Amino acid sequence: MAEDPKRDTFSLPTDLQLRRAPFWIVAAIIILVVLTWVPLVVIGRRRVSTETSPRLELFQDMSHQPKFRAQVFSPVFADSRADRPVIEGTVARGNLQEDDHYYRGFSRKLNEQSGNWDVQFFDGLPAQVKLSSQLLHRGQERFNIYCAVCHGLDGYGHGPVNERALELQVKSEAQWTPAADLHSETVRGRPDGHLYNTINNGIRNMPGYGAQVPVDDRWAIVAYVRALQLSQHAPARAVPPEKLK
Ligand code: HEC
Repeated sequence: MAEDPKRDTFSLPTDLQLRRAPFWIVAAIIILVVLTWVPLVVIGRRRVSTETSPRLELFQDMSHQPKFRAQVFSPVFADSRADRPVIEGTVARGNLQEDDHYYRGFSRKLNEQSGNWDVQFFDGLPAQVKLSSQLLHRGQERFNIYCAVCHGLDGYGHGPVNERALELQVKSEAQWTPAADLHSETVRGRPDGHLYNTINNGIRNMPGYGAQVPVDDRWAIVAYVRALQLSQHAPARAVPPEKLK
């Protein structure tokens, strides 16, 4: 059988060859591709623009209700503030805090003649607070956190804030009243309730720590300050005889 030299060469019929797509298809594809960018542009613009009208929300649920947010205007009240101050004398349920000794450290009575308050500080821990080594440890920890910065870990008044303030005072860059020496005659002579009130409300130039230190911790600090004082002024009878010189 003779080889036909033309057998393997074959050419497509002209009507099967790929032709260029017609212009309208190319144009339609380009337009469609560009259209898919539109949402991206809209989202991008929304993200940077600020608008006063609320966004379109398909499912509102309950996110838009008439209500007052903090610090907004309200036409209801004469002073136009939606935030109302706490009415004086309001007591939340369970927060009457009747116990003067525990909550305040003092009791007071109006003196009819002078019109002044007669203040009486309590001595001793209130009944709710039980003296224990646990209480003293808690007091030590709290004292070292809240008080030692000024009064020093030992209570003599040489905490770092105090020393720095005195340094600045020498350079006339600050006015400073030195932190009290907690071992002084005066402070040792104060009733426990007085100490408690000093922690709670502060005294003279010392700010109060009532906002940071809860009631039980204040009493723990009082107990610890008493222990600190005792450590420096123990009576001879508290020292074991063999250690007495
Ligand atoms: C920011 C520094 C500072 C801190 C913190 C501080 N104090 Fe004082 N404290 C003072 C200064 C200053 C005085 C003296 C105030 C004066 O004489 O005007 C003082 C005075 C006192 C007195 C003497 C009050 C008296 O009877 O005359 C006591 C007690 C006392 N502080 C206890 C505490 C306790 C307890 C804490 C921790 C809860 C504490 N302080 C935290 C600065 C401080």
